[in-house]
Amino acid sequence: MDERVFRRSGQWASVIGLGTWQLGADWGDVDDKEALAVLETAAEAGVTFFDTADVYGDGRSEETIASFLRGRPDLHVLVATKMGRRSEQLPGNYVLDNFRAWNDRSRRNLGIDRVDLVQLHCPPTPVYSSDAVFDALDTLVEEERIAAYGVSVETCAQALTAIARPNVASVQIILNPFRMKPLYEVLPAARAAGVGIIARVPLASGLLSGRYTKDTVFAADDHRTFNRHGEAFDQGETFSGVDYATGVEAAAEFAALAPEGYTPAQLALRWIVEQDGVTTVIPGARNPEQARANAAAAKLPPLPEATFTAIRELYERRIRAEVEPRW
Ligand SMILES: NC(=O)c1ccc[n+]([C@@H]2O[C@H](COP(=O)([O-])OP(=O)(O)OC[C@H]3O[C@@H](n4cnc5c(N)ncnc54)[C@H](OP(=O)(O)O)[C@@H]3O)[C@@H](O)[C@H]2O)c1
Repeated sequence: MDERVFRRSGQWASVIGLGTWQLGADWGDVDDKEALAVLETAAEAGVTFFDTADVYGDGRSEETIASFLRGRPDLHVLVATKMGRRSEQLPGNYVLDNFRAWNDRSRRNLGIDRVDLVQLHCPPTPVYSSDAVFDALDTLVEEERIAAYGVSVETCAQALTAIARPNVASVQIILNPFRMKPLYEVLPAARAAGVGIIARVPLASGLLSGRYTKDTVFAADDHRTFNRHGEAFDQGETFSGVDYATGVEAAAEFAALAPEGYTPAQLALRWIVEQDGVTTVIPGARNPEQARANAAAAKLPPLPEATFTAIRELYERRIRAEVEPRW
C-alpha cells in the first residue's frame, strides 16, 4: 500500500491505517480472537499505521497490539497511542511528571521502550496554549521515551493552535464527507507547516457505510447508544456529531453516489485519501472483513470530479449548518 510521510518526524504511514478503539471497548463486544484477526488482516493488506490510546479498554487495545507485534519482529508498523484521558480533564494535570507516568504505562502495555508517536488525547483547550506542556513533550523526546508527539483535537481552532507549535508532528482530527470544515483552513495550514494529518472517524462511526436505518439498535455498551447527545464524551465522536435520524437519511443519499466497484464505506475512505494534506486515514474495524475492505480502498482508482461535486452538494444541503458551528 502507498505510504505517506509525517514530514516533521520522518515517519511513514500507509495511506489507510487502522483505528483500534473497537479492540478496547465502547463498541459492544469484540473478543480477543477477533481483535487479533483484525490486526492480522490489516497488516496482511499492507496497513502500517495503528492508532490506539491508553484509555481504549483501559489498556486492552494497547496490549492486543503488543501481543500481535511480539511474534512478528520483521513487521514494520508505526504505532500511535494517546494519553491524558485516564485523568480528570484539568489543564493542571498536563505536566511532565504525569506525562512520564502515563508514558510508562503505555510503554509497558505496548511492550516497548520508546513509543513511536504519542498524541495528547483531546485535552482541554487551554492546554494547546501552554508553553510548559510542549516543553514537557520535548523532554519526553529527549529522554527517548517517545520518538515524536502530536495532538488529537475536537475543533479546527485547536488544530490551528497546535499546528503553530514547532515540534508537533501530527494532528488527528475528524474528517469525512459529513465533516468538511478541516478542508478550509486546517489542511492548508498543516501542509504549509509540514504537520501530518490523521483523519479519524472517517465513516462517521459507520453511518457512511449506509447500513443503518432509523430502527437499527446498537448494544447498550456501544457509544452509538449511550453518547448520541454527548452524555459521556464529546458528541462529535459519535456519528461525527450528526443527529442520527438526519444522518441515516443523508447516508442513504451518500450511498447512492458510490461509483461502480466502490462500497459506500470505500467511497468515504477514498474521498478522504484524496484530500491534499491527509497523511493517513484510520477507519475502525470490528471484524477482519471490514479491515480488509477498508484497506482495499487504497487501491481503488481516483474518484471522478462529479462525485466530489455531488458529495459537496449533499454536505451543504443536509449537514453543514448543523455541524460546522460546533467543531
Ligand atoms: N478522540 C480521539 O482521539 C478519537 C475519537 C474517536 C476515534 N478515534 C480513533 O479513530 C478511529 C476511527 O474512528 P471510529 O472507529 O470512531 O469511527 P469510524 O472509523 O468512522 O467507524 C467505525 C465503524 O464503522 C463500521 N465499519 C468499519 N468498516 C466498515 C466497512 N468496511 N463496511 C461497513 N461498515 C464498516 C463499523 O461499524 P459496526 O460496529 O456497526 O460494524 C465500525 O465499528 C478509532 O478506532 C480510534 O482509533 C480517536
